[in-house]
Amino acid sequence: MQRYANISKYQQIIQYHPFCVQNVDHFLRKNSLIACQNHKITQENFYTMAYGLLKGKRGIISGALNEDSIAWKIAQRAHEEGATFTLTNAPLAMRMGEINKLAEETGAKIIGADATSIEELENLYDESLEFLGGPVDFVLHSIGMSTNIRKGREYSDLNYEWFLKSLDVSALSFHKMMQVAQKKDAIAQGGSVVALSYIAAQRSFPDYTDMAQAKAMLESIARSYGYHYGKAKGVRVNTVSQSPTKTTAGTGISGFNAFYEYANQMSPLGNATADDCADYVITLFSDLTKKVTMQNLFHDGGFSCVGISEEIVEKMEQGIK
Ligand SMILES: NC(=O)c1ccc[n+]([C@@H]2O[C@H](COP(=O)([O-])OP(=O)(O)OC[C@H]3O[C@@H](n4cnc5c(N)ncnc54)[C@H](O)[C@@H]3O)[C@@H](O)[C@H]2O)c1
Repeated sequence: MQRYANISKYQQIIQYHPFCVQNVDHFLRKNSLIACQNHKITQENFYTMAYGLLKGKRGIISGALNEDSIAWKIAQRAHEEGATFTLTNAPLAMRMGEINKLAEETGAKIIGADATSIEELENLYDESLEFLGGPVDFVLHSIGMSTNIRKGREYSDLNYEWFLKSLDVSALSFHKMMQVAQKKDAIAQGGSVVALSYIAAQRSFPDYTDMAQAKAMLESIARSYGYHYGKAKGVRVNTVSQSPTKTTAGTGISGFNAFYEYANQMSPLGNATADDCADYVITLFSDLTKKVTMQNLFHDGGFSCVGISEEIVEKMEQGIK
């Protein structure tokens, strides 16, 4: 489908019908055929949000489980920006079937791979390069899982088999994804690799248990591999530390609603949504960030730099009274 920005129409709406702008964004995100009912603007001629930032780029996107997944939103944005890509997830997640919808919508091929298996990752790159017709320009690691969290084990009572599994699935898999790629020379010169992290890598959040260590390792891998892949092939490697987000992985953490609300009230810009995260990650895949590498980039509405906010002070004072 050819995409173009109908800027003048958009400006007209902002000028005369500001209340419609929200609808337009909403319908666009929902992939509705009619982006704005009031103005009969079709989705096809309403790609004002797209800038062609990934035009001609190829990629691999992991971790899209359902519509709430951060990776799902990133895949939709990458498609809007002109990229072609494959989608991958653990075979078990794929059996749930929802990913087919996303593949259909974005023209992507689905290739199952457990991200802890070298063999399956090798196959992922082989099949991706064949489908896409050449090396990839970007890779998204959007994978996290802790059995200790799932089973409600406290930090002082962790099961070590599960702890090792958390590290393997949520952190080592990031190294594996890059090592396999580099051995196959599957990422093009100047490519970009992004993984998603959380601020529990730097600060303590009691219910995040062993995932805190997994995220610390993930960010460390970005620094170490970023050095090696940068030297070898100009490939950028970064992690994006995202606000609490209402997804399957996120809401599985006990007390999630409380720390979601706490973070929201601490952050001057409020929590970053999955859609916001998609916008940010697209810039990292694009040529606009060619010299950004080995970073952990906070995408959290300012949360990481705030000591306390007026809202929280007010709440505490109310509590004290
Ligand atoms: N939701 C949040 O609050 C939040 C905040 C910061 C960072 N993150 C991170 O974002 C990433 C994506 O999570 P999400 O919130 O979109 O939740 P999600 O549950 O939608 O995504 C997690 C994905 O990991 C996949 N996965 C698990 N084990 C796998 C394996 N062995 N091989 C391949 N894939 C596997 C799951 O199938 C799922 O698609 C994770 O790394 C998560 O830690 C989430």
